[in-house]
Amino acid sequence: MADFAGPVGVVGAGTMGTGIAITAVRAGIPTVLTDVSETQLRAGADSVAAFLNKSVARGKLTAQDRAAALDRLTTAPTFDGLADCAVVIEAIAEDVAAKQELFATLGKTVGDEVLLVTNTSTLSVTAIAAGAARPENVVGMHFCNPAPLMPLVEVVDGMRTSAETHAAALRLTAALGKTAVVIKDTPGFIVNRLLIPFENDCIRALERGVATVADIDRAVRFGLGYPMGPFTLLDTVGLDLHRAVSLSLYHQLRDPRFAPPPLVDRMIAAGRLGRKTGHGFYEYESAGLFGT
Ligand SMILES: NC(=O)c1ccc[n+]([C@@H]2O[C@H](COP(=O)([O-])OP(=O)(O)OC[C@H]3O[C@@H](n4cnc5c(N)ncnc54)[C@H](O)[C@@H]3O)[C@@H](O)[C@H]2O)c1
Repeated sequence: MADFAGPVGVVGAGTMGTGIAITAVRAGIPTVLTDVSETQLRAGADSVAAFLNKSVARGKLTAQDRAAALDRLTTAPTFDGLADCAVVIEAIAEDVAAKQELFATLGKTVGDEVLLVTNTSTLSVTAIAAGAARPENVVGMHFCNPAPLMPLVEVVDGMRTSAETHAAALRLTAALGKTAVVIKDTPGFIVNRLLIPFENDCIRALERGVATVADIDRAVRFGLGYPMGPFTLLDTVGLDLHRAVSLSLYHQLRDPRFAPPPLVDRMIAAGRLGRKTGHGFYEYESAGLFGT
């Protein structure tokens, strides 16, 4: 981060904001985490600590490195805490109006040179940037979930993203220890364009009674070589977010493969959102983003 003169700000302390904050503090980058909800902000900071504790327990991190990483994390209840940031990454709700409003508001707090990053999964970076006073500073960096573990970041320029902003996003991706791929501003970029129809096909196979959750997961892991089965991944992402992402892509592409199958609605109605509620396609001992 040598050429970023300030900490990274992360707006939204949910699944992705928390994961991005963990990634940044582990990469040695001071990070300010904020959220509209104080409860969510506290839960997000707790999730960062829980993840780092688990990393120590698994022998992936020393206790000293955990303490140093935690020291790099600050929480801020308002956007004033982002005033010194060189980069602000938004990971708030997947809603274009909310993201536009956020960038408009941030423009009043942060400096003119600040890199404004959206982690949108399905929305147009060009449309989100339209809310910013300086759309040339806005770029998409689509992290994959779970962000601390998945190496890929899809870097997406909007129509008004400057070459400097694009280059800064690539440097930031490298500083975070991730691998960048450059994608056009298109619905779902590459990962979700491929993943969402595949996950929906797996859910439809389950609805038809083709095989159990565990056997479909095993088939995908051991037959296709994927590191995680689709139902394990869906429980990690959250069924509510899967539904929102599927519907957003369905509406943009008018392709029925993106329509969320009815089982998704039933599971959401039953509170079976995945790891975060302790129940999803699988049962978990404790509810939480990184629950077991
Ligand atoms: N979960 C995933 O698998 C995944 C993967 C890649 C990208 N994304 C994208 O990341 C973004 C966040 O997704 P998530 O799963 O972390 O959502 P989430 O619901 O877990 O977290 C969103 C957080 O943002 C906060 N928030 C909402 N509006 C806000 C505002 N105006 N200002 C500050 N905080 C606000 C909420 O209180 C909540 O804590 C979405 O755009 C989503 O599409 C998600």
